[in-house]
Amino acid sequence: MKKVALILLVGLAACGQDLKPRVDKLEKENALLKEMTAPLPSSLDNYFPPKAQGPVYLMEMFSLSNPFEGIGIDLQEKDLPGAKANFDAFRAQYLKMSVMVPEWKEKFPVGPVDSLGLAMGSGNPAMIGSAMGRIGRLCASCHVINQIRAQQKYSWPDFEALSLTDPITNQNISWHESMMRIANAFTAIGNDLGQGQIENVRTNFKSFSDRFISLSANCSGCHDTPRSYFVSQNVQGMVSDLGKAVAATPPDGKAIGQLLGAIGNESCMKCHLVHMPSATAKSFWKAYPGMIR
Ligand code: HEC
Ligand code: HEC
Ligand code: HEC
Repeated sequence: MKKVALILLVGLAACGQDLKPRVDKLEKENALLKEMTAPLPSSLDNYFPPKAQGPVYLMEMFSLSNPFEGIGIDLQEKDLPGAKANFDAFRAQYLKMSVMVPEWKEKFPVGPVDSLGLAMGSGNPAMIGSAMGRIGRLCASCHVINQIRAQQKYSWPDFEALSLTDPITNQNISWHESMMRIANAFTAIGNDLGQGQIENVRTNFKSFSDRFISLSANCSGCHDTPRSYFVSQNVQGMVSDLGKAVAATPPDGKAIGQLLGAIGNESCMKCHLVHMPSATAKSFWKAYPGMIR
């Protein structure tokens, strides 16, 4: 009996030892996934409008990268005093940034910077190269997760902050609601054509066309200078051709199919490829953490 208990205990202890590295690895993976999906640390808000006058954090990043790149430039020019001055400026800016966002404190470890200082003191090019490379990877490891998200959060306006007027009902509607109405009418054209409901095809075309043409009035909600690309004369020409194909007796089914496809590709799809990532990220952050089940 005692022997069995002992074997069990030894077995359990061995299992426990096997599990420890796996648990550690899973915990690290979990922390990384959380960082990738959770909204950015809220204290970053202090360094961007509307809380700050301008994109302060971005400007501070440039003040970090300029002396860092300066070190490399000066070393190539064999300007050692210049490289040393750039190193001191870089180190000071690095330490300043390490406390700006408390949640990111550990992302600015001081060890690699001190190693670069030592390497520069030694004058050994290989040591300097590897110390700079290590810092470069440190910068990149934060950028790969956080830079695009910061751009989406602070540099992209929010589509949902815009208020649009529906040209048919004159209601004030959100961007999303406008998209849904355009998409419903757009899809209904093909659907009703397939069912031979010609009057519905024409009503839906009118609803689609009015709403789609009025969409271009809303680009100025974000763009200071005119933008036409996805709602250009070319695309509006396709919408007008679609109108002719729908009005024909009988409606020109082949042309309608081709034009629906072309409008979908040239306007809806291409505009979505540019504008949707930031809009989707913003709505995800609003819903977070309710989306975790
Ligand atoms: C300004 C460029 C732009 C154009 C042109 C555009 N869209 Fe959109 N659309 C967006 C953006 C941005 C979103 C995401 C924000 C939202 O859901 O309101 C969106 C969202 C949508 C959605 C909701 C998708 C979802 O998963 O919730 C549908 C449906 C849609 N668009 C259909 C269309 C159709 C159909 C067309 C072409 C006839 C079109 N859109 C043209 C920018 C555009
Ligand atoms: C803790 C995270 C973090 C670390 C570490 C970090 N950065 Fe950044 N960096 C950011 C974020 C976030 C942005 C995006 C800011 C924005 O676009 O508003 C950024 C943007 C930048 C930009 C602007 C790029 C552009 O063209 O828009 C430069 C340059 C830059 N960082 C340099 C560096 C250098 C050099 C280092 C390392 C010595 C570094 N960063 C370390 C978070 C970090
Ligand atoms: C909610 C804000 C918003 C709205 C509304 C919006 N855009 Fe944009 N769009 C942006 C941002 C931000 C960029 C990134 C580059 C920039 O700022 O110009 C961009 C980029 C673009 C680009 C590529 C780069 C450039 O600047 O030309 C085009 C083309 C464009 N948008 C067209 C349109 C058109 C056409 C509409 C209306 C149908 C529209 N956008 C509506 C925010 C918006």
